[in-house]
Amino acid sequence: KKKTNQALVIFGASGDLTYRKLIPAVFDLYMNDSLPEGYAVLGVSRTPFTNDKFRKKMKEGIRQFARYKDTTNEKLDGFLSKLFYLSIDTDKGEEYGRVKEKLDKLNKKFNLGQNYIFYLSTPPALYSTIPKYLYGHGLTIQQKGFRRLIIEKPFGHDLKSAVELNNQLLEFFDEDQIYRIDHYLGKETVQNLMVTRFANGIYEPLWNRNFIKHVEITAAESLGVEGRGGYYDGAGALRDMIQNHLLQVLSLIAMEPPAKITAEDIRYEKMKVFRSLRPFSKSDLKKNVIRGQYTEATVRGKHYKSYRDELNVDPQSRTETYAAMKIFIDNWRWEGVPFYIRSGKRLPTNVSEVVIHFRPSPQKLFKLEDESTHSDNQLILRIQPDEGILLKTGMKVPGNGYEVKSVNMDFHYSELNNHYIPSAYERLILDCMSGDNMLYMQGEAVEETWKFVQPILDYWENDEDAPLHGYPSGSWGPDVADDLIEGKESTWRYPCKNLAEDGV
Ligand code: BG6
Repeated sequence: KKKTNQALVIFGASGDLTYRKLIPAVFDLYMNDSLPEGYAVLGVSRTPFTNDKFRKKMKEGIRQFARYKDTTNEKLDGFLSKLFYLSIDTDKGEEYGRVKEKLDKLNKKFNLGQNYIFYLSTPPALYSTIPKYLYGHGLTIQQKGFRRLIIEKPFGHDLKSAVELNNQLLEFFDEDQIYRIDHYLGKETVQNLMVTRFANGIYEPLWNRNFIKHVEITAAESLGVEGRGGYYDGAGALRDMIQNHLLQVLSLIAMEPPAKITAEDIRYEKMKVFRSLRPFSKSDLKKNVIRGQYTEATVRGKHYKSYRDELNVDPQSRTETYAAMKIFIDNWRWEGVPFYIRSGKRLPTNVSEVVIHFRPSPQKLFKLEDESTHSDNQLILRIQPDEGILLKTGMKVPGNGYEVKSVNMDFHYSELNNHYIPSAYERLILDCMSGDNMLYMQGEAVEETWKFVQPILDYWENDEDAPLHGYPSGSWGPDVADDLIEGKESTWRYPCKNLAEDGV
């Protein structure tokens, strides 16, 4: 990609995201030789750091979280010398004059061509304030250089606030200047969903209601809310994972082939999927949507407290830490095919995957070696960890007779010679630097996905009979979630039936 001189301006630079993800990712880009010749990072926050103190803190973050571990001090110092810090009260408009001054100086020093990316790594309450003041100081107008804005979710709290946020942002930036991050889209394996489908002749002919029985999309985490109770208790699994990450994954699985691999074509196809999601009726909400909350449990001698006992969580909270649902896509390709989606915290292991369940062979000619297992073909697209693809097929058990057993045809990314998988932030920041917004979300899609989840939010909030199921920490969520899956004896795929060693 062509490298253009520019600066990255991070608001909320003293926060955790900058320390753990952003600066380590920019450092890895530097080590990969992906940064332009003229480059600078300006951290802006309230905390009164000096440049030196900021650099020292970022150095720690890099040592801990960057991929390049064995860096010489010289190389690292070279990178750090391009980091700068400015402390301002982000709530006060007049203080942005100092941001402008500082950028003018850096611009001269590093020949930045007045190209600036503004990254809002701040609480969402500042999402409209900062753009307003940047605009007030002429910093959003693209005259000479480019001006781009990156924001992190949450993009609103519900449909209404999402629309409001979009409208506010559009007062100060044009839509094509706004880069809304969904870090799942930055994952190599999520991008590979589209490549697997459209670079191979064998999958696409089968990729429809005639051959696919149902699709499962799972994002399970073994961690609890880990000190993020304050944010999470006002959000919950539906807002935190499903409205964004999992619906994005769903759109990549369900979309039609794009005319070309361009941001515009792909966004267009994804949007068609969102528009085809069948809205939940009252009775669907009762039948097809499940929420749960983790309760205390002792797992292998270790005690885990309940969600309600977590720091900054309301002791009577009804926020879901698990959500599962059955979704239909009303279009030609997918009519009648259920998509099952689930995500939860404090589950037995960390795994994000998509499972395509194919319809069984029309005749059962052979006996299964083990009747308790399923012989149906499954294509498992493993997003993380142990990134790869696995196809389950039936094979003859060696010996007399014709017994069948399910075996795995397995590909692991780790087997590739060059399996450097860039982090999501590396990929996304680099894309924004070169003006490629293919992996970012457009405002319209954000609104459309909120529109889809809004009836669930309303149901959970307003209907006193809407059940909230407790599930013990370290289990796979409420048992009733199994009843969602159509078909006798059908259940979710449990990547580990019991607790994984690396699990809770
Ligand atoms: C974030 C959520 O968007 O994604 C977190 O806010 C969640 O709650 C995280 O833990 C999961 O991301 P990853 O990349 O670890 O799967």
